[in-house]
Amino acid sequence: MIRFVLNGSERAVDVEGDTPLLWVIRDELKLTGTKFGCGIASCGACTVYVDGAPVRACQTYAEDVEGSRITTIEGLFSREAEAVRAAWRELDVPQCGYCQSGQIMSAAALLADTPKPTDADIDAAMYGNVCRCATYHRIRAGIHRASEILEG
Ligand code: FES
Ligand code: FES
Repeated sequence: MIRFVLNGSERAVDVEGDTPLLWVIRDELKLTGTKFGCGIASCGACTVYVDGAPVRACQTYAEDVEGSRITTIEGLFSREAEAVRAAWRELDVPQCGYCQSGQIMSAAALLADTPKPTDADIDAAMYGNVCRCATYHRIRAGIHRASEILEG
């Protein structure tokens, strides 16, 4: 049994230690906001936080998160995340939406570290989050808008 805290609730799952965290979240715990894209840590669709830091859940294993705090898009309620959601709605950032959970997780983490990011900061932080609909220009604008919202 592997135990951790998911979105504030204690959870225990009976899986092999080398089960990808992504499958634990989606298949065992039925939280499907975190997406499967590439499976090789190259697209960012599966981004979640482990102890507050963004990780790729497809290449993080159940045994790695024993005793950790995991946050998925369903449990992301920070100030930064709310500003990102507001900016995303205002600027109609998503297209198909598939990549957007990961984009929002990464954008909120960037703003928590760097409240007024430059374009270069945004490009560096969001580099690993691929969008097949190429919403990159709106993602960048959305992060700047979220930064303004945070400033008040
Ligand atoms: S599915 Fe994990 S990075 Fe692509
Ligand atoms: S909005 Fe379609 S993949 Fe990003």
